[in-house]
Amino acid sequence: MPQVIKIEGGHRLSGSIEVSGAKNATVALIPAAILASSVVTIVGIPNIADVASLNELLAYLDVDVQTVETGHIIIDPSHMVNKPLTIDAVSKLRASYYFMGALLGKYHHVTIKMPGGCDLGPRPIDLHIKGFEALGAKVDYHDGTYVLTADKLVGARIFLDFASVGATINIVMAAAMAKGRTYIENAAREPEIIDVITLLNKMGARIHGAGTNVITIDGVERLGGCFHEIIPDRIEAGTFIIMAAAMGQDVRIDNVIPQHLDALLSKLSEMGVRMDIGPDHLTIGAAPFLTAIDVKTMTYPGFATDLQAPLTALLTQAHGRSTVLETIYRQRFNHCEQLRLMGADIDVEAPLASISGPTPMHGAEVRATDLRCGASLVIAGLLAKGVTTIADVHHIDRGYEGLDGKLERLGAHIWREQVD
Ligand code: EPZ
Repeated sequence: MPQVIKIEGGHRLSGSIEVSGAKNATVALIPAAILASSVVTIVGIPNIADVASLNELLAYLDVDVQTVETGHIIIDPSHMVNKPLTIDAVSKLRASYYFMGALLGKYHHVTIKMPGGCDLGPRPIDLHIKGFEALGAKVDYHDGTYVLTADKLVGARIFLDFASVGATINIVMAAAMAKGRTYIENAAREPEIIDVITLLNKMGARIHGAGTNVITIDGVERLGGCFHEIIPDRIEAGTFIIMAAAMGQDVRIDNVIPQHLDALLSKLSEMGVRMDIGPDHLTIGAAPFLTAIDVKTMTYPGFATDLQAPLTALLTQAHGRSTVLETIYRQRFNHCEQLRLMGADIDVEAPLASISGPTPMHGAEVRATDLRCGASLVIAGLLAKGVTTIADVHHIDRGYEGLDGKLERLGAHIWREQVD
């Protein structure tokens, strides 16, 4: 039964919340675990829809998954079977494509239906394929399905035309047990990549350079089990930081690695937001006066594209004209049309959006077109006068663990209703 989230705006937030494990690490760590020949234990897994979809795929592959308690799973791939991944669950999330690198790396063969994902415009996987072919895989694509086969995988020097997060992780997984050394040049540097490489090295892989733009992988014979704790979700943390900047009175955000948010914190300081930064937490209070700024999304450690939509909601309250230049997904502006329904003054000429403020926001019936658009609308709803109704909240539940519950605990007037 579909649900809507309703928010009565204007209520100040206070208290503390704890950030969950990183979604964009989780969706790679779970496929990476199947490279092991024995049990992998992962703790800190967020309770989100994407994890349920991935566990469905593991079960299909006869991987034994035991959920000890929320966020703590034990994955035993020792009796798994490499079946064609053509079931519907593959299309529920784009990150299913991580099974390409994992199954190719482990079995030298994988059949998988082209992954799904959210509506951010074209999302090719040509760089993933380029890496697999460089390692020796033959890639066939027919009728929406990829078939990758390799007699053997041999280390290669691979240059990524774009520092793609997905391609970097997928190639690392395919190369972990290849013969010899692989170099990935112009590799992405996101913290989630470091987390996956940390897991693989705990399993016995020999990977160096995580977090830099040159990653070196010396192939090993086998990978064993291990124990791993996921890093905090920097995008969830950033979303709550922006909410606190919009409506907070000293909101404390726990389980954060502040360094992962340098670009956002720098921009919020420019806007006049007060913040107290601790070793693993932040305390944020709404600023009486917000100054307009210019933001340009970049690969890490630049300003994260996933925080562009949430920040745009806050920019509606900044004095002056702000601009957002989106260099990663040039069409990622679906949230602007929805924000305009609530009173925002935003002009979009992709890849640039101009936001004039401050504008009084009012409740409206809006739709989450994707995960981060949904977050942006929640922020606008907290700011708005009256009640906002957000439809298609399944997008939000894919990537935020109990977002409305956490906000309610901070004093937001937010609730869910079933709709016909
Ligand atoms: C990851 O997607 C994240 N998803 C995205 O988060 C995030 O927005 C993105 O990285 C950028 O930071 C996960 O980690 C599951 P990319 P990914 O490959 O790996 C182009 C969210 O909201 N490209 O770095 O798909 C691509 O078209 C999601 O949590 C190619 O051209 O991102 C895009 O313009 C949304 N060819 C750019 O690179 C390729 O083969 C960034 O893509 C691959 C990518």
